[in-house]
Amino acid sequence: MSRSTIISVINAKGGIAKTTSTLNLAHALGTLGMDVLVVDFDPQGGLTGSAGINTGDLELQMGDVILSGTPIEHIIRNAPHCKFDVAPANINLSVAEVALIDHAEPGWTIEDQRKYRESRLVEALANVRNAYDVILIDNQPSLGILAVNSMSVADYILIPVATEFMSLMGLNNVLKLIEIMTTNRNAQAKILGVLPTLADTRTNHTKDMLKELYKICRLRKIPFYKEFIPRSVRVQEAAIVGQSVLDYAPTSDVARAYLNVAKLIHTEVMARVAKTS
Ligand SMILES: Nc1ncnc2c1ncn2[C@@H]1O[C@H](COP(=O)(O)OP(=O)(O)OP(=O)(O)O)[C@@H](O)[C@H]1O
Ligand SMILES: [Mg+2]
Repeated sequence: MSRSTIISVINAKGGIAKTTSTLNLAHALGTLGMDVLVVDFDPQGGLTGSAGINTGDLELQMGDVILSGTPIEHIIRNAPHCKFDVAPANINLSVAEVALIDHAEPGWTIEDQRKYRESRLVEALANVRNAYDVILIDNQPSLGILAVNSMSVADYILIPVATEFMSLMGLNNVLKLIEIMTTNRNAQAKILGVLPTLADTRTNHTKDMLKELYKICRLRKIPFYKEFIPRSVRVQEAAIVGQSVLDYAPTSDVARAYLNVAKLIHTEVMARVAKTS
């Protein structure tokens, strides 16, 4: 077995703290002593930017890795203020995504084309799978080719869900794609957990939505975190200076919540390593 445990952070719904959760959990796992790589697999480049790397300055990024076969080691950088490495992305990843849709070589069948476009990230990460304990993938809010690539390579899927009505509806779409990936594509990824985000516990709405979310997860036998991520202005303030909220506001509730979830992930990763080694 390779050393890395790969966790894809995914949800088709936008603006529900996928990137924020990826960054802060990656940093927390780094502070717990793990070697962590974050793959920014979103053409918006939000993770890259929040990790203090200018998306406009990138000569090479994830688009080159999946389209032209640039080795991922050539694009990986240190996050200047965080305890993880980043494989950055910018809008060119969208160009790569479009080009992948009909990429074909002479003699290829339709099935060859499909396999090629869905396994770009598997190929890309092969070289670094022994260099990190954990690889976290931040995904764009859509369930297209990039998401399929991400799920194909993942050992686990982490699903952030905002504690609001529309987000709960969106959970079904992700679960459907996971089902398709496991049955039709033989993907190995297991659900690590549903992570409630953007919780405003002063409101009854959030409390109701949390209860509803736990009910859905129990009914569908999906693991979920009892720990929820509270809303806090500290999160945005930290992102502006390229820091994790764990360093920016270490005593805040949101920092504590991310650290607690990271500890649970750490335990799960160590158990997986112990079981398979
Ligand atoms: N706990 C929080 N408290 C307050 N604001 C938050 C919190 N988590 C995230 N945010 C803010 O919510 C917005 C969306 O967060 P984020 O970019 O992480 O979501 P996303 O799901 O990655 O979005 P996208 O789908 O566009 O990639 C950002 O402005 C972010 O700073
Ligand atoms: Mg994002």
